[in-house]
Amino acid sequence: MAALRAFESAQRAGAKIPEIVAYEKQDDWGGQWNYDWRSGTDKYGEPVHSSMYRNLWSNGPKEALEFAEYTFDEHFGRPISSYPPREVLWDYIDGRVRKSKVKDKVQFSTAVRWVDYDRDQDIFTVTVENLRSGKTTSSEFDRIIVATGHFSFPNVPEFEGIDSFPGTVQHAHDFRGAEKLADQRVLLIGASYSAEDIGVQAFKMGARSVTMSYRTGPMGYDWPDGIEELPLVDRFEGQTVHFTDGETREFDSVILCTGYLHKYPFLPGELALYSPNNIYPASLYRGVVWQKNPKVYYLGAQDQWFTFNMFDAQAWYVRDLILGRAALPSAEQRAAHMRQWRDRFQELDGDADDVRFQAEYIRDLIDATDYPMFDLDEVVRIFLAWKQEKKENIITYRDKSHPSVITGTMATTHHTTWLQELDDSLERYLSTPERSEVEAIVVGTEPDAEKDEAATQE
Ligand SMILES: Cc1cc2nc3c(=O)[nH]c(=O)nc-3n(C[C@H](O)[C@H](O)[C@H](O)COP(=O)(O)OP(=O)(O)OC[C@H]3O[C@@H](n4cnc5c(N)ncnc54)[C@H](O)[C@@H]3O)c2cc1C
Ligand SMILES: NC(=O)c1ccc[n+]([C@@H]2O[C@H](COP(=O)([O-])OP(=O)(O)OC[C@H]3O[C@@H](n4cnc5c(N)ncnc54)[C@H](OP(=O)(O)O)[C@@H]3O)[C@@H](O)[C@H]2O)c1
Repeated sequence: MAALRAFESAQRAGAKIPEIVAYEKQDDWGGQWNYDWRSGTDKYGEPVHSSMYRNLWSNGPKEALEFAEYTFDEHFGRPISSYPPREVLWDYIDGRVRKSKVKDKVQFSTAVRWVDYDRDQDIFTVTVENLRSGKTTSSEFDRIIVATGHFSFPNVPEFEGIDSFPGTVQHAHDFRGAEKLADQRVLLIGASYSAEDIGVQAFKMGARSVTMSYRTGPMGYDWPDGIEELPLVDRFEGQTVHFTDGETREFDSVILCTGYLHKYPFLPGELALYSPNNIYPASLYRGVVWQKNPKVYYLGAQDQWFTFNMFDAQAWYVRDLILGRAALPSAEQRAAHMRQWRDRFQELDGDADDVRFQAEYIRDLIDATDYPMFDLDEVVRIFLAWKQEKKENIITYRDKSHPSVITGTMATTHHTTWLQELDDSLERYLSTPERSEVEAIVVGTEPDAEKDEAATQE
């Protein structure tokens, strides 16, 4: 969507743009934000793409991901809170391109099956399957942009005895909501965003206990009673789990929050990125140009502090390379540039360094394009404030507000706190429930019409 928008923006400014075809295997765009209730395979028998679930709210402040050229104010016409739920963010990214003609360039329900590069003719042949008709076709292209995401193919490690566990075992990719975890003893393996958020979702929905098991180190938040962190699982014995520090616990459900694999089953090995999930994957010049074949570009292949605005910066730069507005340095110069950034990357020490590094990476890309520069230092400040607020209270950080770095608008306080809100729909989010209705949710009282009447008169 960022790439399509980048070309559209150049075209609007009078540039001649090349013929573009986008293939999307789902019926609509939005990627991860285009939620599917299914798990395993989708309605076409394809692997389900989205790893999202009910009640997923943005886990970073929206002010850190805002498009510099399409603001939340422009989309919603009024200030909203800093941590919108999934459907609200889908509406925002869809809204930017909803009224333009770029959707015509997308062939939906069409899975890319294979990409072949002919070195002699310097051309790519892309074979796709229309999932509705079952028809397979091939077309030729001069350039390829890979924007298939990298949080869809679960990393599923083995633990001794796990096959003897009698409860449910699933990966976070297949998790669709925490309601069924009520009154259960839940084990989450992993110590990153999935473990953190699924852990607090389980807590919110009334799990009896939540245990998170870390490999490298604990997340270390000040968890509420009922959530604990233990070192790595050593082995399972039926319902009993032994941890490497000698502790044992019994569980009803296990969720592997062990991350995802970079996997591009439609690409031959020489074009496919193979990397751990980090913020500067090797072999990508400026994080986007495939070193071994600079006519192949990746968008969003990094681990992500910044998201939508980083994808824009990348898309604008890739567009300019394709339009010949930006010059591609020689292979040696690209290698030297990557070495320099890899060295910086390897010296990073902790989250604050990571955020600053990604901000500098984005600044470097925007400097090379006409994407509107925004106050990256202020976004870094917001990220650091967010980290601090999580440290202070992991349950309430989503109730805090941050200012937009683009418009200066201060986010509103949402009508219902994250812990109390059980309806994550766009309609509910944008509604203005009566005061007594919110109180009824929070303190469990009956709504009081008289009080609302009085509030309206006030
Ligand atoms: C559980 C979860 C929660 C997240 N929460 C947040 C959050 O709160 N805030 C935030 O900023 N970011 C969040 N992210 C990060 C998320 O990765 C980005 O926000 C964003 O969705 C990445 O966009 P993308 O276009 O790179 O990839 P994706 O969103 O994954 O989109 C890739 C698209 O490629 C399509 N595709 C894949 N293979 C093929 C094929 N062979 N042929 C055709 N089409 C194909 C898919 O159907 C999909 O539409 C979250 C990620 C996950 C997994
Ligand atoms: N909006 C939301 O609330 C929300 C919710 C969930 C996810 N997300 C997003 O989804 C993306 C992916 O997050 P993620 O947490 O799924 O993946 P991730 O950040 O890549 O983390 C993977 C975790 O799995 C652990 N791990 C990997 N292999 C393991 C093994 N063999 N044994 C034990 N632990 C192992 C890693 O431990 P080590 O540290 O030891 O490597 C790490 O803690 C992120 O962009 C995140 O922001 C957002």
